[in-house]
Amino acid sequence: MIQPIIRPRRLRKNGLIRGMIAENTLSKDAFIYPMFVTKGKNIHRPIASMPGVSHFSPDTLVKEVEVLLKLGINKLLIFGVGEEKTETGNSSNSANSAVATAIARLRAEFGSDLYLITDVCLCAYTNHGHCGVLADDYVLNDPSLELLSDMALAHAKAGADMVAPSDMMDGRVAAIREKLDDNDLGNTAILSYSTKFASAYYGPFRDVADSAPQKGDRQSYQMDFRNGNEALRESLLDEEEGADMLMVKPALAYLDVIQRIKQNSLLPLACYNVSGTYSMVKNAAKAGLVDERKIVMENMYAFKRAGADVIITYHIKDILQNNWL
Ligand code: PBG
Ligand code: ZN
Repeated sequence: MIQPIIRPRRLRKNGLIRGMIAENTLSKDAFIYPMFVTKGKNIHRPIASMPGVSHFSPDTLVKEVEVLLKLGINKLLIFGVGEEKTETGNSSNSANSAVATAIARLRAEFGSDLYLITDVCLCAYTNHGHCGVLADDYVLNDPSLELLSDMALAHAKAGADMVAPSDMMDGRVAAIREKLDDNDLGNTAILSYSTKFASAYYGPFRDVADSAPQKGDRQSYQMDFRNGNEALRESLLDEEEGADMLMVKPALAYLDVIQRIKQNSLLPLACYNVSGTYSMVKNAAKAGLVDERKIVMENMYAFKRAGADVIITYHIKDILQNNWL
């Protein structure tokens, strides 16, 4: 007997039926927008390697955030750039850092309409560009924890809702949690960059943040991209240490890792659509090689389908401005 053809195409006939059975949806609520803040006044400096992304001083940042709030962007991940660089990166925990100043300004201006997350890492503050304290070309783990905890504390005191350590030192989530709790900041949450790979996809960012290592690379602390078991282990360790949310970074080449962590942890999972993939998409679109809207949304749904609850992306301003959701 001839078998009837099984026809999944019936449910793809038109947009109505496709919309009805779509397995994933995206909401603007699930996006975080990364921004770069520097000291000074009246600075709004576009970054050539990342079209659409700029450095802001605290005053112009406030203006830009007014625009973002109108679009529905109300969760920011703040990076500090252009600070004084020292051997141990101690300007990172100053109450007068660009990040601390900006957080305080934004909080005063917008109150709880804005959810403020700060990147916690030393690489933009050390003169060698590594994410921790350096000795004989090796990044020391435990001495870095104190500095990272102090940086997190400075941000939390300035008013950050959540701190996001991106250094990949062992034990930093526990160290930061303890430091915050000891200072009556038990409500400040931790979004851990829990599974972060040593990746060439961070290329444009390192120019933006002026945070490239002067010598060597980050392979003795960030993860080896050949490893999937270790990727899961890293996130589960951070869960044990008290992270409130986990993250996979980069996102696009690591969808398998997103899926695996989602299946093995009940914590909300974020992914970071990093500078390299952003710039690649922007430049390919500019060159007429791809349709920007289509490729951006295909990537966003890929993150969601893989299991990401939250997406950190430079694209979200374009997405909402142009009604791509
Ligand atoms: C700092 C940090 C980096 C990124 C976020 N935090 C760079 C790095 O680890 O070298 C990358 C962000 C991006 O590429 O968009 N540790
Ligand atoms: Zn770093």
